[in-house]
Amino acid sequence: MGLRKPRVLSAVTGVAGLAALAAVTMVAAPSKALAQAPSQTPSAASRPPIVYVNPPASLIPEGKALFAEDCQTCHGVDAEGSSRAPNLQGLGAATIDFWITTGRMPLADPTVQAMERPPLLTNQQAEAIAAYIVSLAPGGPGIPSVNLQSANISRGEFLFSEDCAACHTITGVGDALANNVFAPSLYPATPTQVAEAIRTGPGNMPRFGPGTLSNQEVADIVRYVEYLHAPDDRGGAGLGHVGPVTEGFVAIVFALGGLMVAGYWIGGRSHA
Ligand code: HEC
Ligand code: HEC
Repeated sequence: MGLRKPRVLSAVTGVAGLAALAAVTMVAAPSKALAQAPSQTPSAASRPPIVYVNPPASLIPEGKALFAEDCQTCHGVDAEGSSRAPNLQGLGAATIDFWITTGRMPLADPTVQAMERPPLLTNQQAEAIAAYIVSLAPGGPGIPSVNLQSANISRGEFLFSEDCAACHTITGVGDALANNVFAPSLYPATPTQVAEAIRTGPGNMPRFGPGTLSNQEVADIVRYVEYLHAPDDRGGAGLGHVGPVTEGFVAIVFALGGLMVAGYWIGGRSHA
């Protein structure tokens, strides 16, 4: 803070800082409580926030046939990669599933950034191909199934603003980045696809591993992205679809501003 001189002012801003800290703690606390909730009761809230599932081995023959038809000309007979396309071995089911279900693969034109578009293959075919590639070389995360019931939307908005908004914007509408790369709109993405993108980092997006974002935090972010798809208007003074806690934050900012003005005024008077 630049306004340092009056002693009363620092006291008042101290109080304001404490208030802000308390508010942030209140936002953060519920998700901590949920993350630590005991898991013996089978209620929705105590199910794990994310379960990573590898597709069943029974799908391997179907996946092998589909891979030969749709993928191997570019990715090689054993998914080992070629001059045309990267190695897929060991990437894990989540990566394979993401690229197929978002319509990025099979790729038609290898010279442009693979884009989200209506998928050519079904979810079950994506799982079958994933089962086949995992059978060639295990590793990588399974397909995430997200439990949205235990997710905290306010915490999700906070994390999204820190980790995602710089590229996708706070409303998730997407934005152009440098060098002809763009961060796409998040509206078409399903909860599974959002978790897959976070955990696998497609293309130029960074990967967020469990050391950076816990499963609970990923579920919180997914919940917020779901909210962005269909923000039910809850009134509020035209702040745009930026999220449910924004108005709370605005209130805090106004409160802080008020306290500072008060502090400045008191400080000025006591020095007179
Ligand atoms: C016409 C060639 C072509 C075909 C056909 C094709 N791919 Fe790709 N694939 C690519 C290229 C090129 C990339 C790299 C694109 C990028 O990074 O944007 C890629 C990237 C990928 C990735 C991401 C790899 C990584 O390191 O993140 C996956 C997964 C993938 N492809 C799976 C498949 C599957 C499964 C099929 C069949 C359903 C398939 N691809 C068909 C060319 C192809
Ligand atoms: C440094 C910029 C950057 C950051 C930070 C970032 N992303 Fe991305 N994101 C991208 C780019 C670029 C793509 C497109 C990748 C591709 O297609 O090659 C992408 C793709 C996605 C997709 C796939 C959307 C579709 O087309 O179906 C989702 C979902 C996504 N990001 C979610 C997130 C979330 C959630 C976060 C925060 C945890 C995040 N991203 C952080 C740049 C970023």
